Amino acid sequence: MKKRILEILRTERTVVSGETLSVMLGVSRVSVWKHITKLREHGYHIEANAKGYRLSEETDALFPWEFPKRASQIHFFSETGSTMDIARDLARQGCPDFTVVIADRQTKGRGRLNRVWHSADGGLYFTIVTRPLLPPVHSFRVCFAASTALAETLRELYKIDAGVKWPNDILVDGHKLSGMLSEMEAEADRVAYIAIGIGINVNNDPHVYEADAVSISQLLGRKVSRKRLLTCFLDMFETKLHGKALDNIVAEWKRYTITLNRAVKIVTIKETLEGVARDIDPTGALVLEMADGTTQKVVYGDCFIKDK
Ligand code: BTN
Repeated sequence: MKKRILEILRTERTVVSGETLSVMLGVSRVSVWKHITKLREHGYHIEANAKGYRLSEETDALFPWEFPKRASQIHFFSETGSTMDIARDLARQGCPDFTVVIADRQTKGRGRLNRVWHSADGGLYFTIVTRPLLPPVHSFRVCFAASTALAETLRELYKIDAGVKWPNDILVDGHKLSGMLSEMEAEADRVAYIAIGIGINVNNDPHVYEADAVSISQLLGRKVSRKRLLTCFLDMFETKLHGKALDNIVAEWKRYTITLNRAVKIVTIKETLEGVARDIDPTGALVLEMADGTTQKVVYGDCFIKDK
């Protein structure tokens, strides 16, 4: 019902009487009024006067009904600890492939290598549960597909020169715009699920927490719609997951990477390595050329580009 009311108000763009809404929706005027009250509680700017109702201003809301194609698979929270925890619980309970958990704010947002991911209002924070038919050794492809899809989406929507830093950060001109975290459960020969958590600096000011970060609104000098960004990204990511594209994802990822052939420092939980990033091997590991000419593979870690 909320979805229908919003559709009508968005199409009409003018005052729509309670009577008209009740006829169009097949419910009483009292019921219309109750739904409008709920929508206003959800933050929608709906003016009401003697003539009827009018949507006076758009809100960048991420409620399930804002994603008509996917509404049944979207779980929205205005505030939660971490979308990763909710996604993991849903995955263990058997939720369908491509379930998406979204939060306006996270109080315990986490990043890779035990870092905190500050999640203030204005950013986009979500976790997607995927169930790819892949052996665990190929699970990295799903994360590479996500970062490639995000780089392409940012380029298409905003003409931003988005690059991918190994493994899956998105940087613009050396500044971090987005980070990605994945958690997986698997049996010996098959992935049970991969939860991909993505934080994107959209209309927030990430400098407060991280000097080297940037948001889309800071790059463009205007606010953008998180709903549009998420809709386009989910479509793009889904296309990459369910086609032949996944077999070829490393080559696609390489089109956007800013890591290869650069001097880098890699920090893992155990050690710090320095060298030149030469390639990505068939398991997604970074092939590092060391000062003595030998190569070393790094499966998981944080990458800092030294020759900026
Ligand atoms: C990183 O760059 O270290 C990864 C950051 C991942 C942040 C996202 S925000 C949505 C999801 N929920 C979390 O707690 N973390 C991920």
